[in-house]
Amino acid sequence: MRILRTIAEVRAAVREAKATGESVGLVPTMGAFHEGHLSLMRAARQANDLVVVSLFVNPTQFAANEDLSTYPRDEARDAALADAEGVDILFAPEPAEIYPDGFATTIHVAGITETLDGASRGPHHFDGVATVVTKLFGIVQPDVAYFGQKDAQQVLVARQVVRDLDLDVHIEACPIVREPDGLAMSSRNLYLDAEARAQATALSRALDAADRAHRSGERDADRILSAAESVLAKAGIDAEYLELRDAETLQPVTRVERDVLLLVAARVGAARLIDNHLLRGT
Ligand code: PAJ
Repeated sequence: MRILRTIAEVRAAVREAKATGESVGLVPTMGAFHEGHLSLMRAARQANDLVVVSLFVNPTQFAANEDLSTYPRDEARDAALADAEGVDILFAPEPAEIYPDGFATTIHVAGITETLDGASRGPHHFDGVATVVTKLFGIVQPDVAYFGQKDAQQVLVARQVVRDLDLDVHIEACPIVREPDGLAMSSRNLYLDAEARAQATALSRALDAADRAHRSGERDADRILSAAESVLAKAGIDAEYLELRDAETLQPVTRVERDVLLLVAARVGAARLIDNHLLRGT
């Protein structure tokens, strides 16, 4: 595996691969790899000739009061893990390579970014995500880009950018990878002490409770939500949001008749955690 720091080096490597007809898969990440990230790399490895993983803790998607400075960083460990998955290129640029002096463009997706994590974290968050993802697509020009369904709203933002800007990239959403007790894997789980780690299982248990209600035939959104809410309350968790939304538009729903996402965000100990679960309409 090659570790590349500059856009020019990545472009050269991709140009060479494409010249011989190779397909290119991209996995955008901020590092601190866990099985969720590795599952995306495996999916990319299986389907592409050249696999590029980007490792860049993107400053523009963090608010001033968020965890940019403390976000876990361990490039040597990440490089070893990516190498073991057969990744060809780890693109690990310095911030100035991505945002040089004079950088002045922001990609803003309207609508779906104004709710849920966009409302909780502020408008800068998805602007930062959309901008860096668009830049990575421009730099790597992948055939397929791999995203985790863990960040369901982010997947929709990436799809919207690709659709609206006519980018020739297929967005592949991969399933949420969980710890054995159900906690969705996240780099931010490293912030949890033992007590918070135990409390954090309530998020996935709440989604499970809602899923059971839905499976038993409940279609009323409020009743499904209250099944989830009571699990959170019992664990002493006051969610930032707990919502049932149309899986494509993120519009609120009152009944679960089509594919609907149940999305939750909550502060647990020192971490802000998110999770979600798809309730299928048919
Ligand atoms: P990061 O949080 O590092 O996540 C990189 C990718 O891994 C994202 O697509 C995310 O959805 C996926 N992922 C994280 N946890 C997962 C899990 N438990 N199961 C499956 N996939 C999981 O998301 C970002 O970085 C950034 O916003 C980025 C897209 C790189 C732009 O900066």
